[in-house]
Amino acid sequence: MQPKRPIGIFDSGVGGLSVAMEIARLLPAEDLLYIGDQANVPYGSKPLERIQQLSDSITRFLLEKKAKCVVVACNTASAASLHTLRQSYPTIPFIGMEPAIKPASQATQTGAIGVLATPATFKGQLYNQTLQRYANGKQVYQSTCDGLVEQIEAGELNSPRTLQILQKALQPMLAAGVDSVVLGCTHYPFVLEQIANIAGPAVQIINPAPAVARQVRAVLQERSALEQGDTLGNFTLITTGDVDHTAAFLQAAGIRIPITFQPGTWIGEDITSHS
Ligand code: DGL
Repeated sequence: MQPKRPIGIFDSGVGGLSVAMEIARLLPAEDLLYIGDQANVPYGSKPLERIQQLSDSITRFLLEKKAKCVVVACNTASAASLHTLRQSYPTIPFIGMEPAIKPASQATQTGAIGVLATPATFKGQLYNQTLQRYANGKQVYQSTCDGLVEQIEAGELNSPRTLQILQKALQPMLAAGVDSVVLGCTHYPFVLEQIANIAGPAVQIINPAPAVARQVRAVLQERSALEQGDTLGNFTLITTGDVDHTAAFLQAAGIRIPITFQPGTWIGEDITSHS
């Protein structure tokens, strides 16, 4: 029997866990190896070249751990690096995040859609190509929700400051008639309920995480690389930040599945981890 190879997943921090949880739900037999680069969070305000370097180093680490595919569970890293990662590692399947402009454009009745994402995502080619392809004739309202990633990293999912950031981001788009809001950052599903409360029932909130999990399944199926059998897979979470802090976030977010935590350390341009 071939040794089990994990699905590699990474994000700047805890955001990609919104995607990892969907993968764990859909593919429970798979081993998941998640890297949260909390030593460098947030990525969204960093130059694209720096995000590319970090993404490349994390990918190298995941491949050393024999990952059979890499899920770039970060819109910012996908915008900055997906293209170059695919060029650098042509035999590895990469699954990335693409802002869900297409379903938002299909869903809107008012012709106005809102996108919440980081500055780097909005600057990236991927976002602009997606807009050109799918947002034809629609009014698109963008917000970078400044400070929201940091609030979520701190586990402040319901604090007055978090709600204030969301109000500030959503009010202008709601006033403009937006009826479809895209979560273009993997941190934001952790405040989906808060967004829905502000936006009201007439507004559809689009979280791409379940679709990304289905894409992972399709990619692995195509390569006959899906894990067979019913034994539950292991979920390992490596953070380059503080393990206790990450565990506290999981508690705050109500994530209860068994996860093995490991610290990871940046040494120059490489990550090392100790179990
Ligand atoms: N979770 C990330 C994203 O999807 C990035 C947040 C950040 O580090 O700025 O864009």
